Amino acid sequence: MNEEKTWIIERFDELESTQDYAKSKRDLGENRIVLARRQTKGKGTKGRSFESDMGGIYLSKLTFYTDFLAKKAFQIMASAATSVCVTLRRFGLKPTIKWPNDVFVNGKKICGILIENTLSGEKIRASVVGIGLNVNNGFSPALNEIAVNMQTAAGKSFSVEDVEACLLEELCVERSMEEYLSFVGYMGEKALLIFGDERIPGRLLSVDDSGGLWVEINGKSRRLTAAEVSFRIGKIGKDGF
Ligand code: BTN
Repeated sequence: MNEEKTWIIERFDELESTQDYAKSKRDLGENRIVLARRQTKGKGTKGRSFESDMGGIYLSKLTFYTDFLAKKAFQIMASAATSVCVTLRRFGLKPTIKWPNDVFVNGKKICGILIENTLSGEKIRASVVGIGLNVNNGFSPALNEIAVNMQTAAGKSFSVEDVEACLLEELCVERSMEEYLSFVGYMGEKALLIFGDERIPGRLLSVDDSGGLWVEINGKSRRLTAAEVSFRIGKIGKDGF
């Protein structure tokens, strides 16, 4: 059951990072959504930077919980990615989730999600869910190969305000694992599994109800968590498989 929460919404023309700003407000103990029209030091996963030019949506949602078990943390990832997918679908696009929570359209990344939780014992006290959604924003040439925005994917531009309003609404909806799984793609495909510095070819099998990724490596199936592994979809003849 979703507890009724009140939200402080803060909007900026420019911030270094909505994520860092939201985290800097954690001590206040208030639920908060921070939005910026552009970021100058956007943060991605694994310490990467995140391009954040004008025309995209950059938001961080700081939520406090009273009774949320850390072992259910995957629900936060699943919920955020599902809400982004439902938003994109409402604007006529066909999104796919690349486990655990990257959102792709036409084989290119359209949205990145960064989740940072604060634990208190076995419970999550607060989460900061950062979402960067490419709407009409441009990218550097290097990113053009792997990223897409809604404008290019749909062949028309969108009102960032309309997309943002829809996303904020969808982020308030409670999501089931079933709905998340309905957007998960790439199962059955060959992939390069990345364990830190180690890369192992395998095949993606399925994602289970608790968010574990089942893969086949050397003929054996194995369950992996998002903390252990990421993957790249392989092309035959590339990456050694
Ligand atoms: C990733 O795909 O690597 C995750 C990217 C997350 C980017 C968002 S944009 C809003 C929020 N502020 C940040 O600095 N990062 C997240």
